Amino acid sequence: MGGLIYIIFFHILGAVIWIGGMIAIRFAVHPALQNIADDQVRLARTLEITGRLFALVAPFIIILIASGLYLAHMFGFSGHTSLSKVVHAKEAIWLVMALNYATMVWLRFKAQSFFVSGNALMAKKYLAPIAKYMLPLNIFLGLVAIFLGLVLRGF
Ligand code: HEM
Repeated sequence: MGGLIYIIFFHILGAVIWIGGMIAIRFAVHPALQNIADDQVRLARTLEITGRLFALVAPFIIILIASGLYLAHMFGFSGHTSLSKVVHAKEAIWLVMALNYATMVWLRFKAQSFFVSGNALMAKKYLAPIAKYMLPLNIFLGLVAIFLGLVLRGF
C-alpha cells in the first residue's frame, strides 16, 4: 500500500487542523475575546481571528475531500456495501460542513464591510451566529466524520 500512508496522513492532518482549529477558536479564543470591553477593538480582533482561521483551514477542506475520495476509491468502498454507505455519509457530512463554512466566510465578509463603514451594530449582528450556532455545528459534524473514519478503518 506504499504511498497510501501519505494520503492517510494528509487526510488526518486535514481533520486535525479543520476541527482542532475550530475547537481552539470557539472554546479558547472566543471566551477570552469577550473580556475586551472596547467594542471597536473586540470587533477588529474578532474579524482578524476569524479571517485567519478561515484562510488557514481553506486548503485543508479541499485536501480532506480529495484524499477521502482517493482513499475510498483505493480501498474499493464502492457499490452498495455497508462501508460504501459510511463513505456516502462522510461525503454528505463534508458537503454540509463546507457549505456551513462558506456561509461563515460570507457572514464575516459582510460583518467586515459594516465594521469598516462604521456600523458596529450590524457587524456584531452578522458575526453572532458564527460563534453561537455555526462553529458548534461544524465541530459536532467534524467529530462525527472522524468517528466514521475509524469505522471505515475497521474497528
Ligand atoms: C470533514 C470531513 C472528514 C473528516 C474530519 C475525516 C476524518 C477522518 C479520519 C480522522 C480518519 C482516520 C481513521 C483512521 O484510519 O485511523 C478518516 C478515514 C477515512 N476517511 Fe475521512 N474524514 C472526512 C471526510 C471524508 C470524506 C469526504 C471521505 C470520502 C469521500 C472520507 C473517506 C475516508 C476513508 C476511506 C477513510 C479510511 C482510511 C483508512 O482506512 O485508514 N473521509 N477520516
